[in-house]
Amino acid sequence: MKKYLCLSNRLKAIANLVKGDIVADIGCDHAYLSIFLAINKCSYVYATDVRKKPLERAKQNIKNYGVEDKIKLILTDGLRNVPEEVDTVIMSGMGGKLMERIVFEQDWLKNKNKQLILQPQTFLMELRQNLYLNGYEIELEHPVVESDKTYCIISARYSGCVKNISLRDAVLGKVRNSNSQYLSEYLKRKYKKCNKILSGLRMSGLDKQRIKKYEQICDILSEWK
Ligand SMILES: C[S@@+](CC[C@H](N)C(=O)[O-])C[C@H]1O[C@@H](n2cnc3c(N)ncnc32)[C@H](O)[C@@H]1O
Repeated sequence: MKKYLCLSNRLKAIANLVKGDIVADIGCDHAYLSIFLAINKCSYVYATDVRKKPLERAKQNIKNYGVEDKIKLILTDGLRNVPEEVDTVIMSGMGGKLMERIVFEQDWLKNKNKQLILQPQTFLMELRQNLYLNGYEIELEHPVVESDKTYCIISARYSGCVKNISLRDAVLGKVRNSNSQYLSEYLKRKYKKCNKILSGLRMSGLDKQRIKKYEQICDILSEWK
């Protein structure tokens, strides 16, 4: 039986943010994060995926690490059929819009004792805005740079306070307060990427509103040129 599991920097950073004991790992895929948490940190993990294939792989991995008694696999969409005893919900490597749908359809997450750990692949700005518009508060963010990719991990929970955040807060979130070793590299890469998008938009010249928005975003990030 395997005992030592080495996670990627991204998954390690997610595991480090977990404060609770009963976790739901939504879109678990291979279930490496679930296995790591079951071995090192948490008493029980509900690992879900909407597809059968990843769950079959996950089942084999869980067996290889001998943690069958600490992880329950569920074939489901998002948090449907996941018990409300869960105190930490993790969603990583999925689109931001999908995460919003999964979070906002569950009223039991409107509870300050439930931690959300979200690492969206897309729509990061919009996810920040919509968390606040739905009464969730971002407590911290942790940027990670791995090979040629940047990731931002959000820890949030329900506060009941609905806020319309500024574009600056949507762009930067709480990343600047992070003690991550990747902070400055992350922001530099964000600026570069934004500038590239802006150049493309200017070349096509079609979407004036989008060009204006990206000029504002680049201006906010220009501190990290
Ligand atoms: C790119 S993988 C990410 C795996 C892992 N969470 C990670 O961060 O490495 C995304 C996984 O989410 C699953 N998924 C997509 N939509 C889902 C949904 N609505 N509910 C549950 N899982 C979903 C996919 O089947 C896939 O296995």
